[in-house]
Amino acid sequence: ELSGDLERARGLIREVPDFPEPGVLFRDISPVLADPEAFRAVVYGMVRQVPEFDLVLGVEARGFLLGAAVAYACGTGVVGVRKPGKLPVVAHRVDYTLEYGTATLELPEDTVRPGQRVLVVDDVLATGGTVLAASELARRAGAQVVGVSVALELSALGGRERLTDLPLQVVFTA
Ligand code: PRP
Repeated sequence: ELSGDLERARGLIREVPDFPEPGVLFRDISPVLADPEAFRAVVYGMVRQVPEFDLVLGVEARGFLLGAAVAYACGTGVVGVRKPGKLPVVAHRVDYTLEYGTATLELPEDTVRPGQRVLVVDDVLATGGTVLAASELARRAGAQVVGVSVALELSALGGRERLTDLPLQVVFTA
């Protein structure tokens, strides 16, 4: 059963048809983050049952906001995994396939250390390509990915299946 704050948070997820391409129903959690109680409820929901971790990897762009909040709430550091061309010094780069097209993610230098236990955070899990790419970046830096946490899982797109044995924490499912 959802708490009142979580119930309101779910109602604040905006559905935008045909963005960024015709046929895609885009889920925008920006209104959730703008609401103090909904924001807090979602952040705590994202860490309710995750394994112990030392560092959060948040994926651009809304994964930055949730990842920083998760890290601050849990007393860890946070690293922003970025779209290409934004970072001055790139430690690792991974190309991957998205629900709508292809994409690249980059990990900044001097952030993830070998042996660290990493939690990958994003707003939405769709095909899983994004969190798998972020996980691969962490592994290339010698870290161990202990889990993935997202606010919203789009279950029809099969992301959960692609994560296989990686522990997945989701707050909402659609
Ligand atoms: C969306 C979402 C996730 C990703 C999920 O990002 O924020 O990062 O897609 O899709 P996947 O599971 O199929 O990989 P988007 O590309 O819209 O970028 P943005 O967060 O910068 O808007």
